[in-house]
Amino acid sequence: MKKIDDKTPSLSMPAGAMQELAQRATDLIVARIEGLRDEIPWRGAPRTTLEPLLREPPPEAGQPALAVLERAVRDVLPIAARVDHPRFFAFVPSAPTWPGVVADYLAAGFNVFQGTWLGSGGPSQLELVVIDWFRQWIGYPDSAGGLFTSGGSAAILDALVAAREHHGAPAQPAVFMSDQSHSALERAARIIGVRPDGIVKIASDDEFRIPVPELNRALAEARALGFTPIAVCANAGTTNTGAIDPLTELAELCARERIWLHVDAAYGGFAMLCERGKALLNGMDLADSISLDAHKWLFQPFEAGCVMVRDVAKLEQAFSVQPEYLQDTRLGMQQVNFSDRGLQLTRSFRALKVWMSVQTFGVAAFREAIAQGMELADRAGDYVRKSSSLELLSPPSLGIVCFRVRSPDPQLPAARLDQINEQVQAGVIASGVAMLSSTRLRGVYSLRLCIMSHQTTWDDVRTTLQAIEEQGRILI
Ligand SMILES: Cc1ncc(COP(=O)(O)O)c(C=O)c1O
Repeated sequence: MKKIDDKTPSLSMPAGAMQELAQRATDLIVARIEGLRDEIPWRGAPRTTLEPLLREPPPEAGQPALAVLERAVRDVLPIAARVDHPRFFAFVPSAPTWPGVVADYLAAGFNVFQGTWLGSGGPSQLELVVIDWFRQWIGYPDSAGGLFTSGGSAAILDALVAAREHHGAPAQPAVFMSDQSHSALERAARIIGVRPDGIVKIASDDEFRIPVPELNRALAEARALGFTPIAVCANAGTTNTGAIDPLTELAELCARERIWLHVDAAYGGFAMLCERGKALLNGMDLADSISLDAHKWLFQPFEAGCVMVRDVAKLEQAFSVQPEYLQDTRLGMQQVNFSDRGLQLTRSFRALKVWMSVQTFGVAAFREAIAQGMELADRAGDYVRKSSSLELLSPPSLGIVCFRVRSPDPQLPAARLDQINEQVQAGVIASGVAMLSSTRLRGVYSLRLCIMSHQTTWDDVRTTLQAIEEQGRILI
């Protein structure tokens, strides 16, 4: 019989081969980042192309690691959106800083288990430190705390669980939001057991903000129907237009009505770092919970969401479960087990990327990069206002500007103008100049630029706007 200690399975590599593989990966990543501006910002392919390229059974025997890496870099990784390209303006871009990227590599290489203090004392302490930076940036009291999550969606889910538990997990819960709120809010509400008729969407006003009197009415109506409101969800930067709900008024209403206020600041929250953003987000600190995404406007690689709760004890009351097999991990209140604050037990060490990049560049550099995104959006707005062929559909807000190609013919059917704008968008993307996405504002097809990369210059924005005008000229 074969003795089990004869030989270990060969899943290890000699040090030299490890270094060679990592060095090649580093060289390729740095070359990609250095060459980004000269690349197209998006490369897609249909499934029919990708299936024959990639579909295969797992090989029984291994192959040289360098060849595997080269194949991934040739056939897989480039067929994607380059969300960190200086002219990637679609959806919500993400342009990570290099120390953040390296931090993810370190976290994986050191294989940090960031669920309990026992598993990761140093990393847990560091997560406490970074979460406390966020607390201070928000202006939250000492009682506040939170944790890193995979993204904004997970942060929202954690927050709504805390809200539901805070309200005693009622049988017929209801949550309130505007028609501009991110789909993650509705999804989270569904996951926590809110029935469709308990997910109340209030029609937004002309500035895409939630009208507080309407919300007030909806709360009363829901109560009359037997619902228990467990959360009002406000936007600190909608994904559509960057609109910010009246946070202070909402906080006053929620305090009066004793309802949990969640502010979804996944997209816009880190604008709080610069003076202008802080003023715009005034009142965010009054919320019971806030969702943030460091992989958006804090320039971190995916995944780096965060939930902050004004009274962190509420988060722990909602999530802490103490099984016997984890009894060894109870090291006293001081030693925080982050698994007590959210969905995941096994967690990666996401705080490291924020810490390493902020330590490397300093807060001032982040502040400047965020302010620059807002300024570029303002300049894009001015450009559109002055253009004879474009029109603004919503004013720039927190780095987002929505507009369209306009027609000189007032009789042109609305559907035809929508179609033309769709074609303009497709034309610009196909030209490789820029990647932009669209949305509908009050039913009108809108082009949308979300300007967030720290590498984006006015030249990038102007070139994109000129390409849009040019496509418009061809089609109108
Ligand atoms: C306002 C807002 N909320 C929530 C989310 C969801 O965050 P994530 O994609 O990180 O889960 C997004 C993503 O774009 C967003 O813009």
